[in-house]
Amino acid sequence: MTTTARRTPIVLDVDTGVDDACALLLAALHPALDLKAVTCVGGNAPLVDVVRNTLTVLDTCGREDVPVAAGAARPLLETPVDARHVHGNDGMGDLDWPRSCREPAPGHAIELLRDVLLKAAAGPEEDRVTLIPLAPMTNIALLLRTYPEAARGLRRIVFMGGAAHVGNATASAEFNVFHDPEAAAITLDACADLGIELLMYGLDVFYDPRVSLAQAAALVAEHDSGPAGLAGRLVAFQCERFETDSATVGDAGAVCAVLDPEGLTTERLPVRVELAGTWSRGRTIVDRRDWAGNLVQDPHGQAPATIDVGLAVDGERYARLWLDTVTGAL
Ligand code: BDR
Ligand code: CA
Repeated sequence: MTTTARRTPIVLDVDTGVDDACALLLAALHPALDLKAVTCVGGNAPLVDVVRNTLTVLDTCGREDVPVAAGAARPLLETPVDARHVHGNDGMGDLDWPRSCREPAPGHAIELLRDVLLKAAAGPEEDRVTLIPLAPMTNIALLLRTYPEAARGLRRIVFMGGAAHVGNATASAEFNVFHDPEAAAITLDACADLGIELLMYGLDVFYDPRVSLAQAAALVAEHDSGPAGLAGRLVAFQCERFETDSATVGDAGAVCAVLDPEGLTTERLPVRVELAGTWSRGRTIVDRRDWAGNLVQDPHGQAPATIDVGLAVDGERYARLWLDTVTGAL
């Protein structure tokens, strides 16, 4: 990057979360990104842990300047179910890492989002913010329904959630959408209404950018403390938990997709969220039919949202981007 290049303004909405922590490291440290704020939502862990974990990652990066706000503690309708079996009891790998003592900003996450977006809307086109939700979309649904005018400050939304093919929380559904299906459906609907472009970085690509246990060990050995030391421990935690010799950088891939769109193969497709279903609630129904006759005759009619869906990723390229950023090689 040349020093004159303009940084891309971004905001993350997170449920930190081991792989949200990987995404925060990338967003906080990459020189081409301008991280304006981070908002938190209950998901992988209860909200209070999510906020503490988020502040801890930002402090580790020396980014105490980034405002963090707490948002929704629970989904709109669903009963909350955390994912501590995946992310550890504290939601961030139980790492024995120095915890942040900071407090989040006063006020609700959607107020911070509104303020950042309205400020962006008042500036030139380049100030428009890319919003990157990496968690259940409760805050985003609340924002777009409560303060639709804030959409003027958005460039687009790149979210981790859903899948065209596989599930993880259930055989059908991906965790973020499963956790708050109504919020995901409202977000798709509001984006169609407000003309907001969406990119879905779902499970079809989520597992592909991987860092090996050996690479993680080298990060810890060479940079005991600081962002790279934390990065190595996060990967090592996942390898241990899943008994694998490599782990995905997970949500960080969605941030890579903003930095390096050529690494991701996408298709523009109609997407719906299943809100009923005995075994399929929370599934994203991605319509890949290619004959217009089928679409026209479909008794369900057209899906309200047609969005970009990530279907393949250059995993090595994204893993390298993440490693180079957390080690300060960029
Ligand atoms: C998503 O759910 C969480 O476990 C991860 O942080 C990621 O956002 C994957 O389904
Ligand atoms: Ca997440």
